[in-house]
Amino acid sequence: MPGTGPSPLAPARPRPLPDRRPSMDTSHPIADRYTVGRTRATPFDEAGYDAVLRRDFHDHYADGRDLWTGEEAMRRAPGLLMDALGGPGGARVLDLGTGHGRDAELLLAGGHRVTGVDIVASPAWEIISVEWPGRARFLATAVLDLPGAAEYEAVLDNGCFHHQHPGAYGPYLRRIRELLRPDGLFAVSVFHAADGAGGLYANEGDRLYREFTVEELTTLVRAHGFAPVATHRVPRAVEGLAYLVGIFRRVAGDDR
Ligand SMILES: C[S@@+](CC[C@H](N)C(=O)[O-])C[C@H]1O[C@@H](n2cnc3c(N)ncnc32)[C@H](O)[C@@H]1O
Repeated sequence: MPGTGPSPLAPARPRPLPDRRPSMDTSHPIADRYTVGRTRATPFDEAGYDAVLRRDFHDHYADGRDLWTGEEAMRRAPGLLMDALGGPGGARVLDLGTGHGRDAELLLAGGHRVTGVDIVASPAWEIISVEWPGRARFLATAVLDLPGAAEYEAVLDNGCFHHQHPGAYGPYLRRIRELLRPDGLFAVSVFHAADGAGGLYANEGDRLYREFTVEELTTLVRAHGFAPVATHRVPRAVEGLAYLVGIFRRVAGDDR
């Protein structure tokens, strides 16, 4: 069970968190092999947190610590989105926080066109773009800096949203809504809170991790102009841990 002891993949001792963080009270193996600490307050304002996100993700990729890239449970979200889209393919899909483009490849193989976006560029992007000429493109940019409006039939966010600063949840969801076509689908995969309220955690690099209950995720996304379509619990290899994949539809004409 989360929070009741170290997982088989967790380090022997939780890594100490900075002393200046006053509100840590619980450690939790929310991420494979890394134990993160519970926090009640975010250590940075939103502007400062941008640099934290970039640095911590860059370092994880550079050091080969991007365990999510090879995690089987991570690859369920694009399939769940494609099931909800139905049809033979051909949708324009925006993959937010695309990483090494693993989901982009699955979406391309499913017949869709993909724009992958990430604050950390990957060498895989060029290979994928060559393999799927004219159907894949990648942009090294932050979600909130993405240009465009009403361009995509679907947006996938597999593991990106739950690392954002809580103060950015509203602008982030509003931007997704603007980027979607009327009736477009939004699939978001977050850490699932097994019981009670979802907590906010931070790793040793101060990157935040937010877990959600079904109700918390649904209430938050609904409040930004979406209607729930389905939620799926995707168990992870570590017992008791799961992702929560929410599928939402943009509510037409409901500008928030
Ligand atoms: C946990 S990883 C998941 C990567 C990928 N979706 C996958 O399934 O392998 C989260 C990704 O989101 C990216 N990211 C985080 N915040 C972002 C932001 N605000 N804008 C763009 N990318 C972001 C990170 O660099 C990282 O590649």
